[in-house]
Amino acid sequence: MTLLTILRYPDPRLHTVAKPVAAVDARIRAIARDMLETMYEAQGIGLAASQVDVHERLVVIDISEGHDQPLVLINPEIVWASPETQVNDEGCLSVPGVYDGVQRASAVRVQALDLDGQLRTHSAEGLLAVCIQHEMDHLMGKVFVEYLSPLKRNRIKTKMIKQKKDEERDAVR
Ligand code: NI
Repeated sequence: MTLLTILRYPDPRLHTVAKPVAAVDARIRAIARDMLETMYEAQGIGLAASQVDVHERLVVIDISEGHDQPLVLINPEIVWASPETQVNDEGCLSVPGVYDGVQRASAVRVQALDLDGQLRTHSAEGLLAVCIQHEMDHLMGKVFVEYLSPLKRNRIKTKMIKQKKDEERDAVR
């Protein structure tokens, strides 16, 4: 297994629209495994392939406390979303240290292939529903900060660029 590098906002590659996975094969299973390992290592609950510079429709999620209930969604499609919405503070491994409220559907039904290439339907509400919508946005090239006001977004952008510079400076010391 390999730990993958997570792209950081405002890296322009995060805005790439992912293509459908052509075949659920050994290559895709290996990427999914590495993504799960990378997500657990980074203490995240979801990771989209876009975030590790793989622009195919694949996301991994695990909202369990024990990190033992991985969910892999390949070519996910939301087939139903509740008209009711909820606002939750969201964070993102590509925008470390930033949390802000985003309004999303309270419940969704999503169809996706699993690692065996079987089409499955998942009904989700609460945190899992939020997470699925957040990760699927990544596949469309959208990062959650794009739901925030331009003022907030610019502040975050500046903060992220400074953070990266500080890290690079510390690295050469
Ligand atoms: Ni994210």
